[in-house]
Amino acid sequence: MIKILFAVVLGYLFGSIPWALVIGKVFYKTDVRNFGSGNLGGTNAGRVLGKKAGVTVIILDGLKAFFVVGLCVLFVPEAAVYAGLACCAGHCFPIFANFKGGKAVATTFGYLLAAGLFVTHEPIQMFVIPFVIFMITLKIWKMVSLSSIIGIASAALITTLTQSDLMITVSIWILWAFVTYRHKANIERIRNHEEKKISWM
Ligand code: G3P
Repeated sequence: MIKILFAVVLGYLFGSIPWALVIGKVFYKTDVRNFGSGNLGGTNAGRVLGKKAGVTVIILDGLKAFFVVGLCVLFVPEAAVYAGLACCAGHCFPIFANFKGGKAVATTFGYLLAAGLFVTHEPIQMFVIPFVIFMITLKIWKMVSLSSIIGIASAALITTLTQSDLMITVSIWILWAFVTYRHKANIERIRNHEEKKISWM
């Protein structure tokens, strides 16, 4: 129990590293919270600082969950799912940035990759296919928000249909619900045809 608690706290702290803020302030002397959507995520970092910064933030945000789950699998396997969820929560409510963070898209994909590689050993179903769906929908509609909701939903559906690890399946549905909830303003904009389309991907 103590080990699980420790892993969850560690996951939350890792998730709390606000890479969009760090990259923006250190390399561009810009606080991305004051521009664009104000979101501390890769999309807004790309929107405000350019493609290089956006891609860097997406990779670093994804690596947070990947690293946390990977570390858990090595030392506390029973905590991997909880720590992964805590990492995504930390990304959205970071202790290092006044609890105002991002929408957990890249961190969720990092979780999917690590859980697929190290827990279910089904990375194609858990990460590759959902990521391809994300990219295809992004190519068509050019809205990261919409593609994220669809891509993560596909991961939840595929794991439900193809594999038997109940904890992992439930965790992906939780993440999908959480990510969708974090995008409620985006969903409203999509409905009003006001959602910003991405130009840098
Ligand atoms: O990175 C989250 C993305 O899905 C939406 O971000 O800045 O357009 O609200 P944003």
